Order: sequence, then C-alpha cells, then structure tokens
Amino acid sequence: MDNFRFYANTDIRFGKNQEECLPELLKAYGNRVLLTYGGGSIKKTGLYEKIKCLLKDFDVYELGGIAPNPRIESVYAGAKICKEKNIDVILAVGGGSTIDCSKVIAAAAFYDGNAWDLVLNPDKITKALPLVTVLTLAATGSEMNRGAVISNSATKEKIGLGNEHLLPRASILNPENTFTVPANQTAAGSADILSHLWEIYFAPQEAFIPDVINEGLQRAVIRYAPAAIAKPDDYEARAQLMWASSLALNDLCTTGKGCAWSCHPIEHELSAYYDITHGVGLAIITPRWMRYVLREETVGKFAAYARNVWGIPDTDDWSAAHAGIEKTEEFLTGLGIPMTLGALGISAEFFPQMAAHAVKFGWLQYAYIPLNENDVVEILKSCL
Ligand code: NZQ
Ligand code: ZN
Repeated sequence: MDNFRFYANTDIRFGKNQEECLPELLKAYGNRVLLTYGGGSIKKTGLYEKIKCLLKDFDVYELGGIAPNPRIESVYAGAKICKEKNIDVILAVGGGSTIDCSKVIAAAAFYDGNAWDLVLNPDKITKALPLVTVLTLAATGSEMNRGAVISNSATKEKIGLGNEHLLPRASILNPENTFTVPANQTAAGSADILSHLWEIYFAPQEAFIPDVINEGLQRAVIRYAPAAIAKPDDYEARAQLMWASSLALNDLCTTGKGCAWSCHPIEHELSAYYDITHGVGLAIITPRWMRYVLREETVGKFAAYARNVWGIPDTDDWSAAHAGIEKTEEFLTGLGIPMTLGALGISAEFFPQMAAHAVKFGWLQYAYIPLNENDVVEILKSCL
C-alpha cells in the first residue's frame, strides 16, 4: 500500500429537509451569497423557491443557466458578479456541472487574469471563496472533492483540474432532490459513479481496504440504479446512489493506490467535440477499454472484479474476466444507455485529433495499461 493523505473535509448534511441547515452553514461565511444553478430544473422542482425562502435574510445574487459540460463563459460571468458585489460565499444548487463551474468561479473571484489560465494551470489557484452545495443529481462526486471540469467551445477543449481550495465547505445531500432526475440522467449518473470506481479499482497496486470498499460501492450502484429508474421516488435507491456518488470520488477509494485514469480523458474529448452527456460517453467506452487492456498482466484483476462485483463463480481467470466484462456491458445496456457512438451520430472524423489531445492532457502514458494515440483511436473505433 502506498503512502497517502486522507482529508475529506466537507461537512455533509445527508437526508430529508437538510436544506434547512443552509442559513446556519452560510452565515459562517457572511451575508452576501452568489446562488448558482443550471438550466432551470430547480425552478420546475420547487427547490429554487424553497431556497430563496430559506435565504430571506441574506443578500442573494444569482447566476443561472450553467450548462451541462459547463462553459468557461459562465465562469467569467460568475467571477464578475463575485468581484462587483463583494460576494462572501457561493451556494451551488444542481448537479456536477453547476458545482464544477461554481468551484472555478470561487477561484476566479481572486484572479485578475483570464480564468481559463486557472483551468490550464490550477497551481495558480491560491485562494477561493467558500463554496456550499445542494446536490440534485448523483453522479460526479463534485460535492465532496477538489475536482472540476470546464469546457471551452472556442478551442474544443474539456479540461479537468484539481486544487485543494476547491473542496466544498459543506454539501446538502437530500435524496428527495433527485426524485425528478429523468431516467436517462439517472442512468448516465450511475454509469459515471461506476466509472470513477473502475478508474480507481484498475490500478497496478494491491490495496485490500480501498478495493473492498470500492467493490461494495459498485455493488450498491448495480443494485440501486435499476431501482431508481423503475421508481424515481424510491427514497432508499436514491439515497444509496447519492452517497455512493460522494464516496466513489472523495479519495476514500484511492487511499494507498492510484494511477492516471483511462476512460475519462477519452470521454472528455467526445464531450468537447460533440457536447455529449459525460456518463453516456463513459458507458460506451468502458467495456471496449476493458477488452482492449485485458491481457496476461491484467487478467487476475479482471477475474477478481468478475467474482467480487458480479458474483461470477468461474474458477478460470480468463473465462471469469470475459464474463465480468460481458456483465458490465449488459448492465449498462439494461440502464437504457445508447451503447455506440454511431447511435449518438459520432463518426471517426476527429479521432486522431481527439486521441492526440487525450494523450497530451490525460496522462494516458501513466494509465493502468499505458495508452498511446494509436491505442485511443483503436478504442474509439471499437465504440462506433
Ligand atoms: O441544468 P439543469 O436544468 O439543472 O438540468 C440538469 C442537466 O440538464 C439536469 N438535472 C440535474 N438535477 C436534476 C436535473 N433534472 C431534473 N431534476 C433534478 N434534480 O440533469 C442534467 C445534467 O446535469 P449535470 O450537472 O450536467 O450532470 P452531472 O452531475 O452528471 O455533471 C456532469 C459534469 O461533471 C463533470 C462532467 O465532465 C460534466 O461536465 N465531472 C465532474 C467531476 C468532478 N468534479 O469531480 C468528475 C466527473 O468525472 C465528471 O467529469
Ligand atoms: Zn466522471
């Protein structure tokens, strides 16, 4: 097991009616709040009204319209409000896109240059406004981690960054706020949670504790995602998915192990070029990536995955590993995700450019099985 630091210092308030903690949580940072949200789901669900009522004693400014695959332009707009209105704290209400965008706004509030510099070079982030979140979609783990992903449509780039100043100070996790997430987003979010777990699980080091936690979280998503899709107001299913989202990517599963990720850098290229839903891209890529990297040195890990996550009894490593990958694909298909790039209208036209960018910005040479540009093109072709 490698050395590690574990410091997941977000105050989590989990369960029904936890929004009522907001006044107390925000008051600790001041009175001037920037409320950020996405394209309007929180207005349809009534959460916006509820939060405005709770914040009646605060000075609230707003930035709405943050898009899925959030754009740098929303960061510029939010940072401008923070500077002009002397904002004390940001309250992000939404999914990973709203939270990610708000993290970079929080940092850009203290930066005089172009905020895109911070995305390309997060070491420039030395300070950020405090961020509190109300999560409405179980997927990214952004509610309890230091990461953010921002897109720049002018340069066709979608770039992930991390910095300790970006960790939310508090997050409200009320599963009821996810009852309205439509089936396709529930499926995509569940695929994203699983993908985080797989990216971390498939690493060169042996680390028993994080891996059994990881396997347990995978089993939770496999059990509860279909239940949440079948019955959107199934509280228990939504609760399990929500907590799995946070625990999958708050560093718990990387304690003592880790390497560069494989499928996320490839997916970010698809989203950058075609603005597709993150979890859908991951679901399409992952089973193909699994087959591509299955070989003598990885078969033991894939066999363990098959046995411990999918309950496959096969004693032969190779047949267990193949069966585990089949199960993975079957499960993702069963969630209703379109499982080919062709189904999304994507052709091979930009694969070479996408592969070059993924290798350069995604550290793919340090992945579980190192991937070069040719490997990425081959994986993408197998997704068509
Ligand atoms: O924009 P609104 O109107 O709110 O609608 C959203 C959006 O259309 C809707 N939605 C969210 N909560 C809802 C709801 N609709 C009904 N009821 C609710 N309760 O769902 C759609 C997708 O929302 P989005 O925030 O984009 O989804 P997600 O949480 O999956 O976030 C995806 C973004 O996070 C990044 C992805 O790359 C992508 O840009 N990631 C962030 C990570 C991180 N910070 O650690 C890690 C991930 O790997 C990921 O890359
Ligand atoms: Zn992800």
